[in-house]
Amino acid sequence: KQAVIVGVPMDLGAGRRGVDMGPSAIRYARLHEAIRALDYTVLDLGDLEVPVVETLKKNGGAPGGLHHLEPIRSTCEALARELPILDDAALPVVLGGDHSISMGSVRGVQRGRTGLIWIDAHADFNTPETSPSGNIHGMPLAALLGYGDDRLVRIGGGAPLEPQDVVLVGVRSVDPGERELLQQAGVTVYTMKEIDRMGVPTVAANVIAQLERVERVHVSFDADVLDPTVAPGVGTPVPGGLTYREAHLLMELLSDAGIVTSLDLVEVNPILDEKNRTAEIVVELAASLLGKKIL
Ligand code: ARG
Ligand code: MN
Ligand code: MN
Ligand code: MN
Repeated sequence: KQAVIVGVPMDLGAGRRGVDMGPSAIRYARLHEAIRALDYTVLDLGDLEVPVVETLKKNGGAPGGLHHLEPIRSTCEALARELPILDDAALPVVLGGDHSISMGSVRGVQRGRTGLIWIDAHADFNTPETSPSGNIHGMPLAALLGYGDDRLVRIGGGAPLEPQDVVLVGVRSVDPGERELLQQAGVTVYTMKEIDRMGVPTVAANVIAQLERVERVHVSFDADVLDPTVAPGVGTPVPGGLTYREAHLLMELLSDAGIVTSLDLVEVNPILDEKNRTAEIVVELAASLLGKKIL
């Protein structure tokens, strides 16, 4: 078994600085050791080169704006081009960076029918028209399903994902226009209400059953799905998130199903963190997803 790590130190899609340091924080939290302990060999390709925000002119602006569209597009395009060269047996682990990088990672791993599990406090289903902020990290899931600005939709040249192959888990913050589009698009959403009501085991079983027929499954894990008391190092915290054990159990059950073929770890913000504990929890959760067992 091999895991291949790629860092994307980009915060251009977020409204505040700091997630560009996510790849360093996650590596510093011993990602390599955690994965190696699970009998994977680890190949780290290093970080993609990302434009420095101070060298860019401010562009876009809400409403209807798109901050830093071109550098985000080109960074995602580079990521989408890099991932398919990997051995098919290897498991790509992409370190963000803000969540806009997933437009590159998902397009990069997409082959045949591809399932996507988007684990996030937010739906990231805005378009330039619905976004209250103009921040592109609120738009990647919509773009992956074919909605929004064409330059984002066309990244990596892949076909839009099928709504029946896309599942959102942990959602509790959705903007008004975003809600409408999300419901119209027909993706499956397990909000925090469903998690409270049915519990993680039922939600996980439903997700696994829904993705039974896809050829590969990508997990896109946004650290802000965790409750902010568990993971304070995120730029867009929302109260009422997953507890430490709920998050681990979700990862453990997905691991038991043996369906996951690639992974993003995004939105870790070390500037806002407490002694790197958010990166440390994210590394532990990645280990649970890749097969770490208590016994
Ligand atoms: N919905 C808000 C927006 O569009 C917040 C998005 C936060 N996204 C994230 N990946 N943390 O601006
Ligand atoms: Mn900006
Ligand atoms: Mn997100
Ligand atoms: Mn989020």
